[in-house]
Amino acid sequence: MSKPKIFITRPIPQLALDRLLPHVDYEIWQEQQPPSIEILSKKAHASDALLSMLSDPLNATFFDAPGSTLKIVSQFSVGVDNIDLSAATNHEIPVGHTPGVLTETTADFAFGLMLAAARRIVEGNNEVRQGIWRPWGPDVLTGYDVHGATLGLIGFGRIGQAVARRAAGFSMKVLYFDRSHHADLEQELGVAYASLDQILEQSDFISLHIYLSPETHHLIGKLEFEKMKPNAILINTARGGVVDHQALAVALKNGKIAAAAVDVTEPEPIQNDSPLLDLPNMIIAPHIASASKATRLRMAHIAVDNLLAGLEGRRLPFCANPAVYTKGK
Ligand code: GLV
Repeated sequence: MSKPKIFITRPIPQLALDRLLPHVDYEIWQEQQPPSIEILSKKAHASDALLSMLSDPLNATFFDAPGSTLKIVSQFSVGVDNIDLSAATNHEIPVGHTPGVLTETTADFAFGLMLAAARRIVEGNNEVRQGIWRPWGPDVLTGYDVHGATLGLIGFGRIGQAVARRAAGFSMKVLYFDRSHHADLEQELGVAYASLDQILEQSDFISLHIYLSPETHHLIGKLEFEKMKPNAILINTARGGVVDHQALAVALKNGKIAAAAVDVTEPEPIQNDSPLLDLPNMIIAPHIASASKATRLRMAHIAVDNLLAGLEGRRLPFCANPAVYTKGK
């Protein structure tokens, strides 16, 4: 019997790949840039399964391709906003993803961004490398204390909660805004529920931990920046589309807020002419919050678990569109 065909859009950690390769005929995309939509579509639709990345746009047009043999998608990330899940479900394609294993690593990074922006670590580093070592002085590169400050979390899922745990070690007051109240966690983590406006008005640091959806697109825009404190620092490790970047650039430039540090932009990569690139009080990382070696290996194992389960006709252990299993029942 011939082996199922898999298209893998980026090399993934070898230890996990080794578990998959004996069972499949595979192609791994090795180029520096992700495959174009045309190549992705051609290769995926001639395969049984696709191991995708968040840079692969799997929209309705992708899933509607006629004559496709694609039966399973296993995505190497927790977020699946690049995938039209209803289109996948309509075509009875289960979509796997990798929740849970990147929570702590992403929370570490969010906290790192917070410290780096508050204490101007990147600005200081840049000055030193440019040969500008300003004489030690009382007002040189002064920033804001993280300890004791108020942290507002927008979104209080796994990663938001992990950031709250870290904040406790810095004696921060933590407010959270979420679709639901988490009374049990309020006790355990010493956090308080607040409205979105209260978060915007009271927080020294605002950290975003929500999924990107039509409802959350540009959730943080001009009006929201108007409500923030002048010393507020915005952290985004969620998705770039949650923040209106034009409004962010204006807010940073006009001193409406003090600084921002993001791991995600809209689009990715950020456009070369983005006004954000010229602002010293802005830190931009290239979407690496989950990029620790251990976590990327854990993600790879889950992506492989999802693929192997799907190929054996079992339910994916981590399925982003569980409706696919009840469709038509
Ligand atoms: C990273 O952004 C992920 O969704 O896994």
